Amino acid sequence: MKPSKVRVNLRETPAWRQLGERLRAARLSRGWSLADLAGRLHVSKGYVSRLECGKARPALTMVAGLGRLLGIETEELLIWADFLPDDVKRILCEHSGEALALLRESFGNRSHDLDQADAAPLAVREPSSHYAARLDLYELVHGDCFAWLDNRESNSIHAIVTDPPYGLKEYTAEETTKLRRGRGGVWRIPPTFDGFTRRPLPRFTVLSDKERLELKSFFVHWAASAIRVLVPGGHVFIATNPLLSHLVYVALIEAGFEKRGEIIRLVQTLRGGDRPKNAHKEFDEVTVMPRSCWEPWGLFRKPCEGRVQDNLRKWKTGGLRRVSEDQPFCDVIRSSPTRTIEREIAPHPSLKPQAFMRQIVRAALPLGEGIVLDPFTGGGSTIAAACAVGYRSIGIEHDLEFFAMARRAIPQLAVLVPNGDSTERAARGSLKTTGSQASLFG
Ligand SMILES: C[S@@+](CC[C@H](N)C(=O)[O-])C[C@H]1O[C@@H](n2cnc3c(N)ncnc32)[C@H](O)[C@@H]1O
Repeated sequence: MKPSKVRVNLRETPAWRQLGERLRAARLSRGWSLADLAGRLHVSKGYVSRLECGKARPALTMVAGLGRLLGIETEELLIWADFLPDDVKRILCEHSGEALALLRESFGNRSHDLDQADAAPLAVREPSSHYAARLDLYELVHGDCFAWLDNRESNSIHAIVTDPPYGLKEYTAEETTKLRRGRGGVWRIPPTFDGFTRRPLPRFTVLSDKERLELKSFFVHWAASAIRVLVPGGHVFIATNPLLSHLVYVALIEAGFEKRGEIIRLVQTLRGGDRPKNAHKEFDEVTVMPRSCWEPWGLFRKPCEGRVQDNLRKWKTGGLRRVSEDQPFCDVIRSSPTRTIEREIAPHPSLKPQAFMRQIVRAALPLGEGIVLDPFTGGGSTIAAACAVGYRSIGIEHDLEFFAMARRAIPQLAVLVPNGDSTERAARGSLKTTGSQASLFG
């Protein structure tokens, strides 16, 4: 699709006016008076008061001091203070057609409407009533997937499509309580920006060596359970990230899976690419790690019984479903960040977009027969995608709130028409098309 020009006039959206409220809240949470903060900053009380009332905008030099004293990240303050970092500006300029989606990805739930003219190119139509999703083919289980897998009959699942927890910590009861409280823990809760509340992000970098070992053994245990319930030739699509994928992949291979490749979800976000902390001026041409523009999904298969054709006949698995007779399933998928409408339906911090999930879920059953499992269901994007393509599926989620969210969200996500396409290209499991892979789902 040719990107349409979207003009985001950042000059007309003075985020720094909101900065004042945030500064005041941070100052009060420390029990400091205006004079206390002014003294620490070596400025007048009146100046701090003007900052807090949104009548003054902090100078660049002031931002670092405010961040350090008030415990707010400098990059976030810079954005609030309307000093959009150069790399962010560049991304927005280079991807003007996707600028709004990028901002939404980074700044999450919209709390006010953008100018309609700007929003139009990315607007999403309401669910189409003639959309052919099947809502009678899934089962949602509230419970621990390890216990569920242990009790499940061997050779009874045909594919697993899942996005597991990576910090291990981030979805524990302790950490999700902190997430919901909006404070502390491994969840970084970024500030609002001009009406946008940024989605909370787990801090993967807080993993110690010991936690990495625990992560590996988590996946060793999980892979052993998964391979038992999968039928021969059954595939696993597992979401990961470029920092930790090796730990997951080795665990799956050690459990007996064959690595069959990697699906590259091309998705531009505004994350990563940081400059050296407290030394960005000294090393102004240095980026500490690449800004991530892709998300790896490991692709694995339980070995087939005999030849692929024998396995397909007996177990209905062993390959991936083609896009059409003329076109195989391809491993690079351009994807937008999850749309606002989907986030509003399922406000899970790791919700994956339907347009992408439907492509991989559809591919997971080569003959369109069998059961897809998502043992880490979250807000339900895999199960909704399975419903949308007409596949049977089972989702497991151990967190009661996320389980309830998925239960509400799946029927709504499943009937959404990706990217506003309400034509008969809509995703049917039996759909035959000669179009591109992405065109299956908008
Ligand atoms: C990364 S999120 C999945 C998000 C999902 N892809 C979506 O689109 O909403 C991982 C989910 O797994 C759940 N989870 C973690 N450990 C679990 C376990 N042992 N059994 C079942 N669910 C678990 C977490 O509560 C979290 O909701």
